[in-house]
Amino acid sequence: MIVIKSPVDLENLLLKSRVDNKKIGFVATMGALHGGHISLIERSKIENDTTVCSIFINPKQFNNSNDLENYPKPIENDLKLLTEVGTDIIFLPNYEDIYPETYIEPEINLYGLDNVLEGLIRPGHFKGVALVVKRLFDCVKPDIAYFGQKDYQQTLVIKEIVKQFNIPTEVAVCNILRDENGLAMSSRNIRLNNEQREHASFIYNMLLQLKEDVKVLTIKDALIKAENVLLKEEGVQIDYLTIVNPQTLLPEESLTTENSSLALVVVNYFGVRLLDNIYI
Ligand code: PAJ
Repeated sequence: MIVIKSPVDLENLLLKSRVDNKKIGFVATMGALHGGHISLIERSKIENDTTVCSIFINPKQFNNSNDLENYPKPIENDLKLLTEVGTDIIFLPNYEDIYPETYIEPEINLYGLDNVLEGLIRPGHFKGVALVVKRLFDCVKPDIAYFGQKDYQQTLVIKEIVKQFNIPTEVAVCNILRDENGLAMSSRNIRLNNEQREHASFIYNMLLQLKEDVKVLTIKDALIKAENVLLKEEGVQIDYLTIVNPQTLLPEESLTTENSSLALVVVNYFGVRLLDNIYI
């Protein structure tokens, strides 16, 4: 395992892989790693010769400075996990490496993808994600980059920048890894106490029930029922719960074939934002 900070050193190191026609897989993270991140690295290791994982907390995607300051930074543990899983290269740039003084922000058009759902609640967030992922792709030039379905809207944003800038990278969207009780793993889960974390299974259970309910109820009625289930829980505020077309993110009026629509939920549970989604 090699830890590299400078993009130039990274490029030089990867040059050999490229010359030898080796496949490079890439997993971008903000650290505070958990099983979900590790599952992306495991998949990359299977499908590539060299796997690069970056850890960079990108200030441009935080629209709340408190959230940025409080973002967990357990770097020692992260390096331990990355070593255990057999990551080949860990890219740990600092702010100036990613956004040097000479950096000029590219024009990025997200065609409204950034104005709905998460984008509506976190203005500027997806623009920040797009900028950093573009920069990271410039540094790593991966053959395949792995992202989690958990941040579904983010995967659409990344596919859009790949298309817009003709980036020769395949975007692989990976399954959501869950705790045993069904709670989607997230770096933010450590802000829940043990009891809350155990109890938070109600979110995934609600999604599973919703998947059943849409078979017998209208989408509207199934969503109302699901919302009531959530609101019965102590400490819950719903940011959104919706069933959308996975390509356009527009609300579905009716369902066609199974698993062709996506139910997305974000709840604020005792102050912690928990995201989840499931194909319906
Ligand atoms: P971060 O939240 O650290 O997530 C890194 C990657 O791990 C993302 O692709 C995310 O979807 C994936 N991931 C998170 N939880 C997961 C889970 N339970 N199962 C499977 N995959 C999971 O997402 C970001 O960082 C940033 O926005 C980033 C893309 C790195 C740009 O800064």
